[in-house]
Amino acid sequence: MTEATAAEIRFYNANPEHADFYREIIDSLSQRPYRIPPKFFYDKEGSRLFERICDQPEYYPTRTEMALLEQFAGEITELAGGTGCFLVEPGSGSCEKVRTLLDPLKPNTYIPMDISCEHLREAAHGVASEYPWLDVHAVCADITETVSLPFIPEQATRVVFYPGSSIGNFEPLEAEAFLGDLAHLAGPGGGVLVGVDLKKDPALLHAAYNDARGITAAFNLNLLERINRELNGDFNVADFDHHAFYNASAGRIEMHLVSKCRQHVNIDGHRFEFGKNEHIHTENSYKYTIEEFRALARRAGLEPCAVWTDSAALFSLHFLRFAGSPACRFA
Ligand SMILES: C[S@@+](CC[C@H](N)C(=O)[O-])C[C@H]1O[C@@H](n2cnc3c(N)ncnc32)[C@H](O)[C@@H]1O
Repeated sequence: MTEATAAEIRFYNANPEHADFYREIIDSLSQRPYRIPPKFFYDKEGSRLFERICDQPEYYPTRTEMALLEQFAGEITELAGGTGCFLVEPGSGSCEKVRTLLDPLKPNTYIPMDISCEHLREAAHGVASEYPWLDVHAVCADITETVSLPFIPEQATRVVFYPGSSIGNFEPLEAEAFLGDLAHLAGPGGGVLVGVDLKKDPALLHAAYNDARGITAAFNLNLLERINRELNGDFNVADFDHHAFYNASAGRIEMHLVSKCRQHVNIDGHRFEFGKNEHIHTENSYKYTIEEFRALARRAGLEPCAVWTDSAALFSLHFLRFAGSPACRFA
């Protein structure tokens, strides 16, 4: 389904059906240990809460990555082959970070993609009204499924922008496969710009996922509220706790929802038992060293061209190319 809307964007809705959300939640809670994929955090409220997380003082990734983008936008533009590309952003969220690139990169077309439809529509309209010279084609889709973008001409230069360390939400083998897809999307001559959170003092990581104002906790618990709202669930959200910690041996932050008591929950007639302290694993966020991530990218068929990091080595920004592309100037 596609439509042209008032603020001059084109909107494609390939969003998974409500039935998919229902089926995946019932399937996820039919196996133990309980585990729900993080993509289900993002209804309208989840997207709003994520934006608030980004503003928390403990949450260093957003401001650090923004500063890197602002500082190195010129080099990124050069690596991207100059102006006029088709700029694709999977998991675009608020579309804030891309604003640092739009003036220098002057893409022909910007293609934000997100699973959170309403939020995507608002964010894409915001970009279109601020940058009237830019074509915006917004695609509401699950980026872990096959998504076709037939409106990108065969000969166009494609740059894929994947910030926010969302790559860390995949298991490493899945991350490799996903980066392989991004490599093919970019194609020879294109580029992939990825933001990756770095391994660091676990205390800083712990604070980032346990902010003092409880916004990350509210974001995690909103998953249960969403199931209540959309799937006729009866989670008593007050009976669950947010629990986030760094698992050093796996190199990842884990987020869980922990049942405070023995209880059962109904979702549209299905009954699920919870023991005291039994948890639902809701997210992993893998952290990488620069070399670990470069090795992962190489295995995915991408050649590292440039990497930028902040002085405290909190976050990294990688420019990668389809392997076999012409040599990278900043390699
Ligand atoms: C961690 S946020 C990052 C947002 C933004 N890119 C940034 O850097 O601030 C992840 C974003 O990806 C979207 N998302 C998560 N899983 C997705 C999926 N499977 N398909 C499409 N979008 C997804 C969410 O809705 C959210 O906007």
